[in-house]
Amino acid sequence: MILVTGSTGKVGQHLINVLQAKGVPFKALARSEASAQALAAQGVTVVRGDLSEPASLKAAFQGVEKLFLLSSASHFAGLELAALAAAKAAGVKHVVKLSAWGVSADSANPLLREHGRVEQALEASGLAWTILRPNFFMQNWVAFFAPGIKAGQPVYANTGEGRLAWIDARDIADVAATALTEPGHEGFVYELTGPESFSYAEVAARLADLLGRPVRHVAVPDAAAYQAIRGHGQDAWYAFGLVALNQGVRDGAADRVLGTTELVTGRAARTLDAYLREHLDAFRD
Ligand SMILES: NC(=O)c1ccc[n+]([C@@H]2O[C@H](COP(=O)([O-])OP(=O)(O)OC[C@H]3O[C@@H](n4cnc5c(N)ncnc54)[C@H](OP(=O)(O)O)[C@@H]3O)[C@@H](O)[C@H]2O)c1
Repeated sequence: MILVTGSTGKVGQHLINVLQAKGVPFKALARSEASAQALAAQGVTVVRGDLSEPASLKAAFQGVEKLFLLSSASHFAGLELAALAAAKAAGVKHVVKLSAWGVSADSANPLLREHGRVEQALEASGLAWTILRPNFFMQNWVAFFAPGIKAGQPVYANTGEGRLAWIDARDIADVAATALTEPGHEGFVYELTGPESFSYAEVAARLADLLGRPVRHVAVPDAAAYQAIRGHGQDAWYAFGLVALNQGVRDGAADRVLGTTELVTGRAARTLDAYLREHLDAFRD
C-alpha cells in the first residue's frame, strides 16, 4: 500500500491520476474535510491526518509500505520529519521525497536548507529512499502569474535574464510513480528538469505570441521582489527563500537541462510550449 501526501497539490494531483490508471493500491492523506471530499469525489481512498499534528498520523500510516512525501511550500521541515517518524514507527519500507533543485543542508536559503535537513534525516533513517530534486514548475505560471497576466500586468521577478529549465509537475509525478511502483530506484537522487531552459522574459514573449497581446517580464531588484512577495501575504521565511532562489536563477544556477525524466520513465519530458498552449485559457482576459 502506498500513502500519498500532498495529493491535492500540483504534483500530487497528477500522481494520484497515474496511480489510479496503473491500478496500484494507494491512499491519500487529507488534512481537511474539503480536501478529503475532493479526493473521495475522484474515487480515491482517503485517510485523514495533518502532518502538523503527529498524533493524527498513526492510523493514517497503518499498513503503508511506501510513502510519497510532499507537504507545504513554507516551514515544512517539521511536517516532513513528523511524517518520517510516523513512517518509521509504522514499518514503512521506502520513502520517495519531493525536494528541490540546488538543495543543501547548509544553504543560506531557508527553503533549500529545510529540504536538505529532511533529506539528511531520511538518508539516516534506515528506510529505503529516493529523492526527487526538481527545478521550477511550469505550473507556477498558472498558479501564481496568470491572474496578473489576465489583468494586463507585467510579471515581476528578480531573475534578471537568467534562464531556468522549467519542468512540468506532471513529469515529476511520473518519475515519483515509477519510483513507487517499479524496483531499482532506492538510493537515487534524481535531479529533474524540463527539456529546455527559458528566462522569464522569453516565457512572457512566448505567451504574448500565443495570446496575441503584450506580456512582459520586469526584472526587479531583490528588495522590490521581497516587498512584493510579502505584500502577497507571504511570511519573511518564504519571501527570503524565494528571492534567494531567484538570485540563483539570475546567476545561472537553474539553467542546466538534464535528461533524468526520460531516463527514469522512458518518455521525453513535456515542453513548456505544450504546457502554455494547453493552459492558454488561464491567461486570457
Ligand atoms: N513550485 C515550484 O516551482 C517548486 C520547485 C521545486 C520544488 N518545489 C517543492 O514542491 C513542494 C510543493 O509541491 P506542490 O507545489 O505540488 O504542492 P502544493 O500545490 O503547494 O500543495 C501542497 C500540498 O501539501 C498538503 N499539505 C500542506 N500542509 C500539510 C499538512 N500540514 N498536512 C498534510 N498535508 C499538507 C496540501 O494539502 P491541502 O489540500 O490540505 O492544502 C497540498 O496537498 C514544496 O516542498 C516545494 O519546496 C516547488
